[in-house]
Amino acid sequence: MDLEVNGSPSAAPAEGEETAAAYIRDRLGLTGTKTACGTGVCGACTVLVDGSPTVSCLLPADRLAGRSVTTVEGLGGSHPVQRAFAAHDGLQCGYCTPGFVVEAAAFTDAWRAEHGDVRPDREAIADALAGHLCRCGAYEGIFAAVAAACAGDFDGDPGQDPPRADAPDKVTGRARFTVDHTPRGCWEGVIVRSTVAHARVRSIDAGGARTQAEPGTAPVLVDLLGSDRTVRYAGQPIAAVAAPTAARARAAAEAVRVDYEVLPAALDPATALEPDAPVLYPTRAERRAAPTYAEGVALPSAWNGNLRGPFTLGWRGGTAVRRLRAAERSGDPRLVTREYTTSAQLHTALEPHACVADWDDGHLTLHVSTQAVSETADTVAGRWGLPRERVRVVTEYVGGGFGAKGILSTETVAAVELSRIAGAPVRVALTRAEELTDAGYRPATRTRVALLADQRGDLAAMSVDSHGYGGVSHGSMTAVLAALMYGRTPRRTRDYDVVTHHPPGSPFRAPGGPPMAFALEQAVDEMAERLGEDPLSLRRRWDGNTRRAALYEKVAALPLWTARPRGERTGRFRRGVGLAASNWLFIVSPRSQVELVVENGVIVVRSATQDIGTGIRTVLRDVVAERLGTPADALRVEIGDSASVHGAGATGSRSTNSMGPAAAEAADALRVALRERSDRVPAEGPVPEVGLKEALAAAEGVRVVGGRPLDRWERMSSLLAGGGDMAMGRGLIGGVHVMEVEVDTLLGRVRPRRCWAGIAAGRIYAERLARNQCEGAVVQGVGYALFEGRRDDPATGAVLTANMEDYRIPGPGDVPETEVYFHEEGFEHVPGGGVGLGEVSTVGVAAALANAVHDATGWRPTDLPIRPDRLLEGLR
Ligand code: MOS
Repeated sequence: MDLEVNGSPSAAPAEGEETAAAYIRDRLGLTGTKTACGTGVCGACTVLVDGSPTVSCLLPADRLAGRSVTTVEGLGGSHPVQRAFAAHDGLQCGYCTPGFVVEAAAFTDAWRAEHGDVRPDREAIADALAGHLCRCGAYEGIFAAVAAACAGDFDGDPGQDPPRADAPDKVTGRARFTVDHTPRGCWEGVIVRSTVAHARVRSIDAGGARTQAEPGTAPVLVDLLGSDRTVRYAGQPIAAVAAPTAARARAAAEAVRVDYEVLPAALDPATALEPDAPVLYPTRAERRAAPTYAEGVALPSAWNGNLRGPFTLGWRGGTAVRRLRAAERSGDPRLVTREYTTSAQLHTALEPHACVADWDDGHLTLHVSTQAVSETADTVAGRWGLPRERVRVVTEYVGGGFGAKGILSTETVAAVELSRIAGAPVRVALTRAEELTDAGYRPATRTRVALLADQRGDLAAMSVDSHGYGGVSHGSMTAVLAALMYGRTPRRTRDYDVVTHHPPGSPFRAPGGPPMAFALEQAVDEMAERLGEDPLSLRRRWDGNTRRAALYEKVAALPLWTARPRGERTGRFRRGVGLAASNWLFIVSPRSQVELVVENGVIVVRSATQDIGTGIRTVLRDVVAERLGTPADALRVEIGDSASVHGAGATGSRSTNSMGPAAAEAADALRVALRERSDRVPAEGPVPEVGLKEALAAAEGVRVVGGRPLDRWERMSSLLAGGGDMAMGRGLIGGVHVMEVEVDTLLGRVRPRRCWAGIAAGRIYAERLARNQCEGAVVQGVGYALFEGRRDDPATGAVLTANMEDYRIPGPGDVPETEVYFHEEGFEHVPGGGVGLGEVSTVGVAAALANAVHDATGWRPTDLPIRPDRLLEGLR
């Protein structure tokens, strides 16, 4: 029996193993329907089947026979919910958006049929969308969008462009992600991974796959093991195979036989430091080649067996230690010491790591889901010995990154190698299990903090010792961030890594920040309690940062803070409010460039940067439009193609502060070029419409390039960075979070109710999008605080939380109602006046939440996540 898809008849799917999602995407080419978790948890693959929202990743395709199916494409782009999502910015990367939109459309229609134009409350919407997950955390916008659509606010054209330039493409399913890209004749690649934690690989039997370039359609295999033939974690890539179909590739992967000489593994960080523990990197050469999860460069440190470190920083560290020891000996009540642990957090971007590689006559074209288009092209050219202009990296849309898609990773290496010997384009996309096993994570930490106050209650000494647990990788930078908090009183910070036979970590949004704040900010609260002082007033005294001072001032007048419950709380449900300060570094990308080209009377804005959901496409559009005073529709932004000029990578919170000023410079250069062609273009101020038209008509083909102007400090730092694209700017970025929770003391559940996020990152470029990012940072911080934690099999090292049911990220019903406040002063010395906010906005969230739990219950959470069992144990 045939079926109907978006109103048109379609041939019935054959009986078999194919899912409805695969049928819709691969056979019908309707790639608006996304797959992410593959287990019916995330809702990205939701379609309407006979009008009912249905997850298509679990539904056998043949069950669609005789049904009427509506995908996001079938909504046509004019459903009020789609306009509402765009107008309220209920999206970031856009990967989960089609699923949300389809579900929300069905909900809105049903709600309005039943209730008319009544606005549903937050809870009703959360219930309706409970089967959907957005890792970017765009829930605030989603709540607002659905409520507004139900109330009829978007029945007509809103008469205003949405704040996000690519929102229309994302709410309609038109936006094409790497996994949506299947060139004709594309083969599928599969990675063969180690089943043991530590072994020498004696041999790899290709199982009939060919390993040399020769014509044919037989499966191909490439070896991915390094020259030391050693695997150091379960899940480590050993080889990759490709075949013309996914089924054949999977069969070929299963035919591969690996002969292991199994070696003892160090799986537990505690025993890894014992004298007889197997040492991961016994030689200097191996230690040098060890992977790092530091973003940029790892801190220099010495090794001792499986321990790396300490990297020590501080001011008058000797004095600090002396004072702390004396205080300990004398039992000084103004000494606060405690140890805190955090768990490994998985990035869980909904679009997996994916690459489609295609060699053609010595030219290599890659579609990659990456946070760094320019850097990927540079790295690929270097690695495969190609002139840079023969490498093209294309990344139109990226379904989330959060730090894990910053470097050249296995799927890209595998796809490039496989394509070369297959003589065909090859796609390698990680499965969800692979993504949750070997795509990086925020390493677990153990951090000991000691704070000492003097007679006046001033900070007299601080020490922070932190161990990072990044499996086979190192790069912990937790304690060092504490050195930058609370002035310059004597302090010592030490960072260590313990390496074990587990998968490598990778940078994750403000690496080291959240565990630092979780420890330090709770210690500060404990000190406040010890001194009998309000936690806000103590921070105002201790914290010399003027930008954060402005945020504290705001908090002092915030009802969420001033009207918080006081005194002992009783009963089953207890409310509490906590706060935390945070910092982050200001990093800039000195090589950033933007080109403007006049094509067919339109200004095309180009750069080899990429939008991972943070909104750089919009920033480029808005900066150029504002600078020239032209309407936004006189411009077209084209990013995500390495053929253009160098663009900033979306790492280190540097895209906007780097690309924004480059775009402004390009706009100024274009104005000069246009003035030469029309005297109706003024030297400054808005270009009138007639003048623009005339000038553009005469300027066809004109091209100008703008770069990131550097101030003196940045120029120096850029020189020190040795031509790398990350330089340190002047000034620290600051944040203050206030969180209200309700603790269920019977079941041990913590419900975050409200959050205030104060961010001091200078001038804000695209307000709604910036706010969205900060709201999402709260969502990710809540996940880190309450649920997220990778679990491993202690016997084999295999990752157990390898699906999205066992690894739980926050859904719409888990997050607090969030208000974002921007303090925009304090970075006037920076070109463009604004710095980064993607990372600082998540640093203090878990810390504020933990302080709120303590405020509610009197119990201090020292271990993340704050699981119900831990909370109940603590309250006993
Ligand atoms: Mo990096 S954690 O993507 O700034």
